[in-house]
Amino acid sequence: MKYALALLALVAAVLSEDIHFETVVGGRSGNGKTTRYWDCCKPSCAWKENIRTRDMKPVNTCAKNGRNTLSPSVQSGCNGGSAYMCNNNQPWAVNNTLGYGFAAASFAGGVDTNMCCACFKVDFTDQIAGKSMVIQVTNTGSDLSSNHFDIALPGGGVGIFNAGCHNQWNAPWNGWGDQYGGVKSRNECYTLPKDLQSGCLFRFDFLKNANNPGMRFNQVKCPREIIAKSGCSLDP
Ligand SMILES: *[C@@H]1O[C@H](CO)[C@@H](O)[C@H](O)[C@H]1NC(C)=O
Repeated sequence: MKYALALLALVAAVLSEDIHFETVVGGRSGNGKTTRYWDCCKPSCAWKENIRTRDMKPVNTCAKNGRNTLSPSVQSGCNGGSAYMCNNNQPWAVNNTLGYGFAAASFAGGVDTNMCCACFKVDFTDQIAGKSMVIQVTNTGSDLSSNHFDIALPGGGVGIFNAGCHNQWNAPWNGWGDQYGGVKSRNECYTLPKDLQSGCLFRFDFLKNANNPGMRFNQVKCPREIIAKSGCSLDP
């Protein structure tokens, strides 16, 4: 009987496995805004120069196929080079209320490389209150305001760098859909390269097509599933 109860408790514990995101003491938190983008460009945190310490590995950057990683010194495909955003920097759903992904972020407004590779638990408000994402900062943006996360979502609009997806995927000039905002329907996600479609669909399925939802963010330790994709970790 005792064993049966112990076993039952163990099974219950495993089934309800709750990922606890460890808050970073002294980390950043606050209320913020979100937007979305996918410009195909090598992200800023993929430059060694933009990473906090010399022994940290920058975010992976990829060849034209978005799969093979390149040396961090290869110039961006948005600046005459051949390095692009890796396809696996797109978001994915862990379940109906939790997603993982990446973003360009700024805390003070403008380019902010000192938060490269930090992770945040983002609790959405507005239309999708109750849903959260854990997001790693992989990029910066001169066009970002303070406490602003520009979530990396394929087909979410190329923004100011309008040539990257054209160079990488032969996407229409200014990208798929509108330059700002991207595709307008779930079906249009199927006009993207196959490797990028799941991240585009994430916007319509997990995020319920919420348009730039507000959120509250808290800095957390990066889950290993995220580090496994970006290649970048603040922890030694
Ligand atoms: C989603 O997964 C997280 C982490 O495992 C868990 O805490 C949460 O309860 C899950 N939500 C649902 C609706 O299953």
